[in-house]
Order: sequence, then C-alpha cells, then structure tokens
Amino acid sequence: MRLDKLLSHTGFGSRKDVKKLIKSGAVRINEQAVKNSDSQIDLEMETVTVHGERVVYREFIYLMMNKPPGVLSATEDARQKTVVDLLDEGCGHFDLFPVGRLDKDTEGLLLLTNDGVLAHQLLSPKKHVAKTYLVRLKKPLEEVDIDQLESGVWIDEEYKTKPAKVEKLHNENSLTEIHLTITEGKFHQIKRMAKAVQNEVIFLKRLSMGNVKLDPMLGKGDYRELTQKELELLQGS
Ligand code: URA
Repeated sequence: MRLDKLLSHTGFGSRKDVKKLIKSGAVRINEQAVKNSDSQIDLEMETVTVHGERVVYREFIYLMMNKPPGVLSATEDARQKTVVDLLDEGCGHFDLFPVGRLDKDTEGLLLLTNDGVLAHQLLSPKKHVAKTYLVRLKKPLEEVDIDQLESGVWIDEEYKTKPAKVEKLHNENSLTEIHLTITEGKFHQIKRMAKAVQNEVIFLKRLSMGNVKLDPMLGKGDYRELTQKELELLQGS
C-alpha cells in the first residue's frame, strides 16, 4: 500500500494533509525517515510510525450503537441528525454506515460498519437473520393476535409476513409489552404488523440481531466496537 493512502486511511487527514506530514519528516518506515508520499509499504513486514507512534492499519471496523430516538439511520442528511453524526471524529475516515434502518423514533441496537460484505449478508432476505424487539402496544394483545403475528399477517394488503415469534414478558399480565422476533426487515414492519391486528406500537426498541445482543451498559447514543466473539457470532448468523 502507498504510504499516503495508509496514513489517510488511518486518520491522519486528507491525502494533502498527509503529504505535508510526510514532508515534515514526522513519518518513518522501520525507523528510517521518509519524504516520499508514494513510498510503498508492506504491512506485514514493515513498521510505520508518525512522531514515534506506531500506525496500526485496519480495513474494517464494526460498532454497536444504542440508537437514541429522534435520530435518522443514515450517513448524512441536510436537515436532521443522523447516527453517523453521533460518532467521534476519530471514526470519520472509516466511512461507516448503518447496517439497515431503524425508524427515527425506534431505539436500540444498530450496527455500523464499513464492511459491505457483512452488511449485505446480515440484510439479505435469504439469510433470515433474526431481530428481536421490545414492543410496547397501545392495547393488550389477545391470544388470537399472537397466533396471527406468529403465523404471518398481511401488511397493507401487499405482503404476508414470515412466521415470527412472540414472547410474553414474565411480569406482564395485560400483554401490552412483548418481545417480537422477526427474520425480515420490511419498511415499518413491526408497526404495520401491529396495525394488521388492530393495534398500535407506542414504543419500539431493538434488542438483538443474529446472536448479538445490545450491551445494557450502553446509554442512548453510546456505541462501542464489537468484541471478536460478537463479530464471529454475526459472521456465523
Ligand atoms: N419495525 C418498525 O416498524 N420499525 C423499526 O424501526 C424496526 C422494525
């Protein structure tokens, strides 16, 4: 990889900034000062330092965010705040994007990455990746509603949803709060499923995706990198 590319991909600024940095003599390859931006680096064999600090190259990054309500699941928007706006500047050079969308008013687990292949796998309808949501409803569910949600409902007369799983919460008698697991991701799917059984979603939070659960230590709007174990779980999802 070219030295200027390596440095701009590891957060040292634009190609122009990096060129200046290299010219200034701050950059060394195997302890040798370099002045040429187009020097080639063998990442396996050579060590690059900037002001004596080792540069570690990573191609992909994987974050889990506890998406707060009121923020768009998008990379940029002219008027509204997006989940990417919530990331620290240090993440800027990674070109992160959210893996799928949660509605503006939905909270909870949102993955962000720059790994298009993994994102595609997780979103592919063929892979049936399970997503579990905490759903609060306006009215209590009847058993017949649960049967319908589980076996599939017509959403807006266009599409019959795939089988889903409803879990009653232990402390809930009136059934206005459930865990609902779906394996697809149609636009407003859960809200439309609730509507199909004459109900309405008043709160929605995603709790898990595949085998990865939202870290309960993450406050609204907080994020952290996935652990190696979580990444492996997702890759196997
Ligand atoms: N279903 C919805 O209706 N909204 C979401 O944000 C996610 C699933």
